[in-house]
Amino acid sequence: MASLTVRKLDEVLKDRLRLRAARNGRSVEDEVRIILRDAAEAPTAAPPPPATTTTTPRWPQTGPAITRPRVTLIIGGGIAAYKALDLIRRLKERGLHVRCVMTRAAQQFVTPLTAGALADERCYTDLFDPQSEFDAGHIRLARDTDLIVVAPATADLMAKMAQGHADDLATAILLATNRPVLVAPAMNPAMWSNAATRRNVAQLARDGVAFVGPNAGEMAEANEAGVGRMAEPVEIATAAEAILRPPQSRPLAGRRILITAGPTHEPIDPVRYIANRSSGKQGFAIAAAAAAAGAEVTLIAGPVDLDEPPGVHVVHVESARDMLAAVEAALPADVAIFAAAVADWRVAQAGAQKIKKTASGMPPLALVENPDILATVSRLAENRPSLVIGFAAETENLIGNATAKLHRKGCDWIVANDVSPASGVMGGDRNTVHLLTAARDGKGDPAIDSWPVMTKDDVAGALVAKIAERMGQTNA
Ligand code: C5P
Repeated sequence: MASLTVRKLDEVLKDRLRLRAARNGRSVEDEVRIILRDAAEAPTAAPPPPATTTTTPRWPQTGPAITRPRVTLIIGGGIAAYKALDLIRRLKERGLHVRCVMTRAAQQFVTPLTAGALADERCYTDLFDPQSEFDAGHIRLARDTDLIVVAPATADLMAKMAQGHADDLATAILLATNRPVLVAPAMNPAMWSNAATRRNVAQLARDGVAFVGPNAGEMAEANEAGVGRMAEPVEIATAAEAILRPPQSRPLAGRRILITAGPTHEPIDPVRYIANRSSGKQGFAIAAAAAAAGAEVTLIAGPVDLDEPPGVHVVHVESARDMLAAVEAALPADVAIFAAAVADWRVAQAGAQKIKKTASGMPPLALVENPDILATVSRLAENRPSLVIGFAAETENLIGNATAKLHRKGCDWIVANDVSPASGVMGGDRNTVHLLTAARDGKGDPAIDSWPVMTKDDVAGALVAKIAERMGQTNA
């Protein structure tokens, strides 16, 4: 019944448009252009309320919610359209308000219903939309946004953009907008390298359009590879964020930060291992906060059950030796933060088969010490990050043990926290930390900054702010 009414309304509106065009002696297209021009000159309506999100947004949540940046995501008609659905999630994770527009071809690959459900707002598809006001909804769509992202941008859509076509909602928005436009091309390598596409890309770049990708790799077509794959959703979201975020809110832009997090698993045999208790939550939160501050972050994670933070390069490892190798591969870095609970020992000779219970009792387990990753990096003669930060999780004599660790490991800062069972820190969402800063000579008493109980996200934010302050001072 409802859809019948909508269809009827659609017909009535289109009839009215034809009548109006005939009455004024113009073509329907000219009539539309005039309606659009008039609407563009009219004051725009207030932007819609931002979508609510269940993930932890990285955009500052202070101030009126309406100040959250808005992204209009135009989904073009290519096989990569399915990745645009993930992109909606990635943009929302960053606290951005997302509104989707789909071309007719895009609807061959994904449905407006899915995009609308993910964005928490219906997806727009038609220039003459019976569900919005008659007066040039697309002008509002073009202006009530802070950034337009086109992903995937097909060769055809880019050609239309370069030529200034406006024969559907997506192209009309792109022609009418005065906001920045970020394009994520996706097409077959032959189409990408075609002279016509090269011309269009060059024209769009001259027009101020920003590009992310395309990347090299396998194509949807069997046995085809080359440049033309759409950039990954995380890359596009990061590029979008870089355009939207003012530089002063990215104090770590241009800095490389490496972070270890989670436990390591040291195999005893193929089914058993030695490990420390660690959820990895604090290290992951620091990685997310550092990326939000503009740093290029590599997170080297032991086995954890956590979502990868947006915009962070995550390397998954199992053992301490794998973790050290991954850390060395991630150097050089400006800052290294060692939040992992690395197992101190491993079994000298892990069993190739599952060790069986026998009547002769427990098998002997000879242990050998694992490499100390923090101490190794702190003592590097070459490639030592200018700021090396360790963690001290203690169950007693917190400050005394943390101070001894600072001296023994040779790092610059130690984040000390009480992980006794009564503290509830292990696996929980809150943490009470003390930041120990080594004396200049590396030998005297450290300066101690004790922070109140905070969420692990807030500890991460505060630590990243301290790091940014220190990097700003030394300009290292
Ligand atoms: O010696 P302990 O394990 O208490 O030291 C904790 C600090 O050292 C943490 O920053 C931890 O990530 C780091 N560590 C390391 N490699 C090890 C042991 C600890 O990087 N093998």
